[in-house]
Amino acid sequence: MTQWWRDAVVYQVYIRSFADGNGDATGDLGGLRDRLPYLADLGVDAIWVNPWYDSPLKDGGYDVADYRAINPMFGTLAEAEALIDEAHSRGIRVIADIVPNHTSDQHAWFQAALQSPPGSPERERYWFRDGQGPDGARPPNDWRSIFGGPAWQRVTEPDGTPGQYYLHLFDRTQPDLNWSNPEVVAEFESILRFWFDRGVDGFRIDVGHGLAKDPALPDLGSDDEGLMEAPDRSSHPHWDRDEVHEVYRGWRAVADSYDRPRMFVGEVWLDDPARLALYLRPDELHTSFAFELTDPDWEPAGVRAAITSGVHAAQTAGVAPTWTLSNHDIPRHVSRYGRPAKARERFGRTKYDMDGLDLDRGRSRARAAALLLLGLPGSAYLYQGEELGLEEVMDIPDDLRDDPVFFRGSGVEVGRDGCRVPLPWAPDGESLGFGANGAWLPQPAHWADLAASVQQGDDASMLSLYRRALAVRRAQPALHTTAMEWVSSPPDVLHWRRPHPDGPLDVVVTMGTDHYRLPPGEVVMASHPPEDGLLPPGAAAWVRLS
Ligand code: BGC
Repeated sequence: MTQWWRDAVVYQVYIRSFADGNGDATGDLGGLRDRLPYLADLGVDAIWVNPWYDSPLKDGGYDVADYRAINPMFGTLAEAEALIDEAHSRGIRVIADIVPNHTSDQHAWFQAALQSPPGSPERERYWFRDGQGPDGARPPNDWRSIFGGPAWQRVTEPDGTPGQYYLHLFDRTQPDLNWSNPEVVAEFESILRFWFDRGVDGFRIDVGHGLAKDPALPDLGSDDEGLMEAPDRSSHPHWDRDEVHEVYRGWRAVADSYDRPRMFVGEVWLDDPARLALYLRPDELHTSFAFELTDPDWEPAGVRAAITSGVHAAQTAGVAPTWTLSNHDIPRHVSRYGRPAKARERFGRTKYDMDGLDLDRGRSRARAAALLLLGLPGSAYLYQGEELGLEEVMDIPDDLRDDPVFFRGSGVEVGRDGCRVPLPWAPDGESLGFGANGAWLPQPAHWADLAASVQQGDDASMLSLYRRALAVRRAQPALHTTAMEWVSSPPDVLHWRRPHPDGPLDVVVTMGTDHYRLPPGEVVMASHPPEDGLLPPGAAAWVRLS
């Protein structure tokens, strides 16, 4: 199948925390290559590797200093090429992560801009502007950084005087690129070719609804600090601007110039399906994440609405939906489902979010959620460690925290480090098998029980559930089309059918407190065993109808 991304199961590798091959407490390409057999055994179709480029890691690698070089902490270009070849020989495709909205302040372009005068071509690659007021003491406009605080940083000019400001919608170390400059457009097309030539099968596009800005840089007049989501209007000065589509048409032409199909999956935060569909036109991106399932708690009305909305958005655009429960920005779903009630915002995790947390309940629900996710039409992205049932780590000491969200805030929002803690591979050793010399963030001691090697041999483990579910999914043709119909059920049960000429398959998820009678047929997968045809509460099953 050439359009493999339409129903693929993709495993997200946060490389810094996956596996450490060289004993420096940081994950790397060597560790990832060593663990390819694990991923093949799990049964994934592809991996998406978070940014692996040379970077000072001020934002976990989303601050790229050189898009054509591998971060020496992660390895070398030759190792990346070897990884791509080895993954391919195991039938696993490789999706890289492209960061086009901003570079690192250590990027050669930005360093040159700092050394160059206002109005120079070097500064025109970014958004440099004079400040307001007689001495330029006020920033050029009222935009806010997603990570907190103003979106403008004043520079000191080479002659030592206080100078212009530059725009950064994220951290101060992540200056925004000027996409109305053709040099920027050409540079990124060349970067895409660089990696496509090395065999990369696709790109996840970071902040895909960003990039273009209104060159007049008008005030927003409102304080949307912390919001990645574009409001439902097409005239926002820095989100979802029409000019961005020209960029993606250029990218698509690059991708389509290769024989073996290459793909783009966008991180595009838009509520309006009609606006989202514009990104998914046949000459733009192949798909974009449906983030709907990252939002609701374990609560039937919210989850049902999330599924309906994600399916509707994909249908509007004529693409297959691309689902995910968790990623490197979002609190892990074991913790979300273990909390008594909604207590979070997208990037926000406060120190108080531990209240009332029941991890056993969260893990039990996460088993059901795995079958929910993998029973939906379209493709599914798994975030590393969810197959082990890992929870959000809430008690990382402040002095070990790394996320700019924590440092730019008041200290109450702890940021995203809690979902980025290195994986436990073995029940013992200083870093639970992650590497030979510790882990860059501390792992909870009880993760020894969740280590991959411990779960591998245990039929009842989360890992075994995921492995079985992926194998069963692969073998069931009904799970590989985009067709889905709701079956009428009580409000706290989600029940849908995946029709297929070879016979339909039903997906059932019980989210209330009652048992639910499964439809007659063969139960090919269950998160918790049914008894006498009754699925217990908080469970999910796949039934091939007789
Ligand atoms: C990435 C984040 C990153 C931000 C800025 C997000 O979409 O997923 O991890 O901090 O973009 O690049």
